[in-house]
Amino acid sequence: MSVHPVAAFPEYRPRRLRSSAVLRRLVSETQLSAHNLVLPLFVRPGRRIRKPINAMPGVSQLSVDEALKEAAQAHKAGVAGVLLFGIPDAKDERASGAYAAKGIVQQAVRALKREFPELLVITDVCLCEYMSHGHCGIVQRGPRATTILNDPTLKLLARTAASHVEAGADIVAPSDMMDGRVRAIRQELDKQGYTDSPIMSYAAKFASAFYGPFREAAESAPQFGDRRSYQMDAGNAREALREVALDIQEGADMVMVKPALAYLDILYRVKAEFGYPTAAYAVSAEYSMVKAAGAQGWIDERAVTLESLLAMRRAGADILITYAATDVAGWLAKR
Ligand code: PBG
Repeated sequence: MSVHPVAAFPEYRPRRLRSSAVLRRLVSETQLSAHNLVLPLFVRPGRRIRKPINAMPGVSQLSVDEALKEAAQAHKAGVAGVLLFGIPDAKDERASGAYAAKGIVQQAVRALKREFPELLVITDVCLCEYMSHGHCGIVQRGPRATTILNDPTLKLLARTAASHVEAGADIVAPSDMMDGRVRAIRQELDKQGYTDSPIMSYAAKFASAFYGPFREAAESAPQFGDRRSYQMDAGNAREALREVALDIQEGADMVMVKPALAYLDILYRVKAEFGYPTAAYAVSAEYSMVKAAGAQGWIDERAVTLESLLAMRRAGADILITYAATDVAGWLAKR
């Protein structure tokens, strides 16, 4: 895309196209629509449970019955889908809750698909919420260092993804960042006959302080160490493109950039370079910051939220994953 030098068009007056709302809409390049929105939900065992997450006002851990209510509202507002995270009753060092046929996510998927066949159900595929140590892979404690075992972890991830699809998930979204996981998941899904189930990979996932509130939400903070050996350095853009290229080679159908607002350059480059369906994940702290400042009256929560999401679309995002999805869909309908 090239932008013509203004000098070549001495008569061009940009303001001629801005004098009314109809005119501005006529020439608007980017739109926000509820069709692109995905709402993350945290599901936990039990009934009639709504456990508010302190750092994320308006977001709660929900038992399946309550998650259905939340999903009903989102669906009614026009939100395209939900992204499920599970908080199991028990954790261990094999993440067995992640791939249990009656695991919490598997139960939630079945209930959601039964109630709302048209609402897309996407599942986050990761082990950290199910591991007693909170890491995204199998941990080996050596005499000198603790390491995450990449390859043995792949089997568990593939098993987890297949169990989600078996329960009825429309899309699986691996967020663990182990090398080779998209291929492992694709092979397992194909082997089980789920050749048409798409994979949305968290392809460019940065090791980020913006995940802070999520760790409370998903009870998945690492008990030791951090995630820097498997998530990316904030300064690396070319590495992000390599990660995306790898995931696409391995069979990803959609790719994700995460966090979103602080990484719009990455979004732009990923979309420009690959042209794949691209998701932006406006992560927990992006939400919390806007909520906190909004509650103080320091910013206009609604305007800032809409502008941020529009910026993600402008940068190249097709899919917007945001904790504000239901509110946003409501605001858009009233505009
Ligand atoms: C699990 C996972 C995380 C997020 C999504 N999937 C946390 C992490 O990697 O520590 C973060 C989402 C958010 O902050 O909203 N691996």
